Amino acid sequence: MAHFLSPSILSADFGKLKEQIELINESKADFIHIDIMDGVFVPNISFGFTILDSLVNYAKKPLDIHLMIVEPDKYIERFASYKPEFLSVHIESCIHLNRTINYIKSFNIKAGVALNPHTSVNCMDEIITDADMVLIMSVNPGFGGQKFIHNSVSKIQKVKQLILSSKSTADIEVDGGIGLQNIDSVLKAGANIIVAGNSVFKSQNIISSVQNLKERII
Ligand code: DX5
Ligand code: ZN
Repeated sequence: MAHFLSPSILSADFGKLKEQIELINESKADFIHIDIMDGVFVPNISFGFTILDSLVNYAKKPLDIHLMIVEPDKYIERFASYKPEFLSVHIESCIHLNRTINYIKSFNIKAGVALNPHTSVNCMDEIITDADMVLIMSVNPGFGGQKFIHNSVSKIQKVKQLILSSKSTADIEVDGGIGLQNIDSVLKAGANIIVAGNSVFKSQNIISSVQNLKERII
C-alpha cells in the first residue's frame, strides 16, 4: 500500500498563507490537509469557504479535507466543488453515515470516516466496506500542537485488522501530534496517510521537515 504525508495547513502562518502553500507545493508532501471547524462539533473555529476559495488558487497538491462540523451533509456539495482527493466526516456527527458516505462518493470523491479518540473501532464494522479511508484522531480534535494519545497506536492496529478481515481497500490516516518522534510507531501499526501540522509548519524549515518525515515513510 502506498504511503502519504498530508501537512495540515491549520498550523501555517495565515499572514503568509500563499508563501506557505507554495513551500508545500515545492516540498515532497503528497496532500494538503484542510481542517474545517465550526465551533460546535469542536471548541474552535478554523476557517471557511472564503479562505478555501483563495487557498485552492495556489495549492498544487490534492486536498485532504477533514470536516469537524455538525450536520456535514449541508455543506458536502460545496466542499466537493473543490474536488479534493478525500473528504472526511466524523462518525460522531453523522446520524445516517451510510447516506453521507454515499453522498460524498456520488461526486467521485473518496469518503473518509473520522473517529474521535474515545470512539471504538467497532463502530466501523458495518461501514468499513463503504469507506475509502478511516481517519484515526490521535488527539481530541479542535487544535493543532497537542500531545499524541498513545492508545491511538492500538486503535490503528484494530482498524488494520478490520480492513484485512473485511477485504476493504480503505486507507488509514492518523491525525494529531505526529512528528519524527512517533511516526514510526503509527506506520508500523498500519497507518498509511500521516497528517503533520506543527511538526511541519512550526519548524525552522518547512521543506526539510517534510523531507525528513517522508524519508521515514518510504
Ligand atoms: C486537530 C486537527 C489536526 C491538527 C494536526 O483537530 O484535525 O489536523 O491540525 O496538527 P498537529 O500535527 O500539530 O497535531
Ligand atoms: Zn485534521
